[in-house]
Amino acid sequence: MSDKNAKLLSVLKLQPVVPVLIIDDVKTAVPLARALVAGGLKAIEITLRTPAALEAIRAVANEVEGAVAGAGTILNAAQFEAAVEAGSQFIVSPGTTQELIDAASDSDIPLLPGAATASEVMGLREEGYEVLKFFPAEQAGGAAYLKSLSSPLASTLFCPTGGISLANARDYLSLPNVVCVGGSWVAPKDLVARGDWAGIEKLAAEAAALKG
Ligand code: 3PG
Repeated sequence: MSDKNAKLLSVLKLQPVVPVLIIDDVKTAVPLARALVAGGLKAIEITLRTPAALEAIRAVANEVEGAVAGAGTILNAAQFEAAVEAGSQFIVSPGTTQELIDAASDSDIPLLPGAATASEVMGLREEGYEVLKFFPAEQAGGAAYLKSLSSPLASTLFCPTGGISLANARDYLSLPNVVCVGGSWVAPKDLVARGDWAGIEKLAAEAAALKG
């Protein structure tokens, strides 16, 4: 396995669930990340879907001890570079483009690229990627679909994301080709809005205790 694949794997193996965050108010980023880390979820994906996202990544990377800040919903090279500059230690994309692959190959920071079909997985394998995001997991066929890729594409590992919750996470985590899952359920909007960090820590702890 290449160094970059190994680096990515070591981040994803920190925990069974990577929280996927949409941060509207940058002031919530640090207490939210602290609650997630306290619950046992260290690697945290902050999506570039809001104007606050880059500042949130910077704040978590600089201020939250134990957190491994990552960036999600990276769609192009400019976003890749901005996310790395803000302190991201891993980058996640919903799909893959040549532009992103080129940006990632110029960087030491690993990319978890999205794939949803056997052909996409094979294309990424040709580019040297051994750890992929399966997205959108539930909608694309769920755990049964991913299981059916495990024999023909045996050496590829996945972090499925999209439609996953405490109720179905084990279906994925029990598969031999799944390292972890991603999900937003550990940081519900209403709990974040009212600053219920204890509630979020509890959800994180439940997620951190999941096993395959
Ligand atoms: C997303 O698209 O926001 C992520 O994949 C997370 O999906 P989820 O909100 O269904 O967990």
